Amino acid sequence: MKYVIGIDLGTSAVKVILMDQQGTIAQEVSKSYPLIHEKSGYSEQDPETWVEKTKEGLTELVQKFQGNIKDIEGISFSGQMHGLVLLDKDKQVLRNAILWNDVRTTNQCKQIYDVVGTERLLDITKNPALEGFTLPKILWVKEHEPQIFEKAVVFMLPKDYLRYRMTGNIHSEYSDAAGTLLLNVGEKTWSKEICDLFELNINFCPPLVESHEFVGQVTEELAHETGLSIDTKVFAGGADNACGAIGSGILSEGNTLCSVGTSGVVLSYEERNDRDFSGKVHYFNHGKEDAFYTMGVTLAAGYSLSWFKDVFAENEPFEVLLDGIEAIPPGSNGLLFTPYLVGERTPHADPAIRASFIGMEGSHTKKDFARAVIEGITFSLNESIEIFRESGKEIARVISIGGGAKNDTWLQIQADVFNAKIIKLKSEQGPGIGAAILAAYGAGWADSLKGIADTFIQPEKTFDPIPENVEKYKQLFNLYKDVYNQTKSLNEGLRDFRK
Ligand code: XUL
Repeated sequence: MKYVIGIDLGTSAVKVILMDQQGTIAQEVSKSYPLIHEKSGYSEQDPETWVEKTKEGLTELVQKFQGNIKDIEGISFSGQMHGLVLLDKDKQVLRNAILWNDVRTTNQCKQIYDVVGTERLLDITKNPALEGFTLPKILWVKEHEPQIFEKAVVFMLPKDYLRYRMTGNIHSEYSDAAGTLLLNVGEKTWSKEICDLFELNINFCPPLVESHEFVGQVTEELAHETGLSIDTKVFAGGADNACGAIGSGILSEGNTLCSVGTSGVVLSYEERNDRDFSGKVHYFNHGKEDAFYTMGVTLAAGYSLSWFKDVFAENEPFEVLLDGIEAIPPGSNGLLFTPYLVGERTPHADPAIRASFIGMEGSHTKKDFARAVIEGITFSLNESIEIFRESGKEIARVISIGGGAKNDTWLQIQADVFNAKIIKLKSEQGPGIGAAILAAYGAGWADSLKGIADTFIQPEKTFDPIPENVEKYKQLFNLYKDVYNQTKSLNEGLRDFRK
């Protein structure tokens, strides 16, 4: 039996999965790591931690592997998007990585609009300038840490850096490059125009390859440290959302995905490179060659629930915290949550907004709060669904993956809030499976991604909307949408009191 490995370099952990040719997950290992929040709005990680934890995961997986090590034919990656890793001329990391959920760069976003122009930016990159994207982070370092910036010769995205450390070769690929604001998304080239405007040498951007492309073998050192064969082939991989899409079979028009990780996204396959969403939703290159997807992002999705657990139910496992929420009616007995713990992206690109519980009263229990958190995250995701529907897309069924797909009550809430059929897959690990599919396709197991996806992806259960709940959630959704407007200026006033 042949195998491939999918490495999903997430925000809170790296997950390593081993899949066989029949699409069975033979092993999975997860190693977590912390976020560094030095100040309000800052979010960083040490790239070395990604490398160390991935090596630990691979070593553990190889130790348990019973077969011939040479049968593990390929490795590929899924990675948290947008994060900035800067390397000097000796390919040494110059500072901590600044991550996708870091929102310190509001001034740099304004600068990008001023210098490039709103229309031109949308023409080239298909996306607005958002705090989380990479170019604003590059400009922030240039402005605030010039002594570091002058040593930087190349920038890398998180999983591209990890892959470099595993192969010794530096590359970027289209699906992740799309989230930098330096890529001409439609033409699939680094934008010389944008680089010139910010005095960045075009070689500051690494060479581009396709997600399934072979980029080298694992280094001797890595093979020695982990026990992998030196012949293990490495394929480029993709952005976590592109890989989530591949790993859920979102490979043709009319397919929609809801993925709840630390962030939450709703994404829809897009064949064309020239549709106009006016920057309301992200428009990125897919991990499938010459395809695209559009996407709305809730910055704190799974993060809202893990924050709630850490602060209010530290010693309870998630299952215990969520046990019983099915008995609470839609609307959590009059409690409404907005998940703006770290600001928001879609539909409000607003780094200053913060979360709220509205309607708390003496009779509320921890279960009401837990359900309200889940409902609030789902309402936020529904704002993206609403934008897609308004743009003419029909969304009758949604494939749901990630942490949100582990809990059946949450999946029913998704069906009722989205008013769409929800499909749960046998494994909720979309991005890791997407990475494994890229490795399998790269290794030549089939002649298309779809060929592999048909074997690797298996639906398990569906959830249909319950008409009575759909009606209740429609009313609640209108109230939910109002909370943003009602709390915006309050949160701006509180800004000076934050750490
Ligand atoms: C997408 C985004 C997040 C990260 C999470 O634009 O910022 O979904 O990819 O890893």
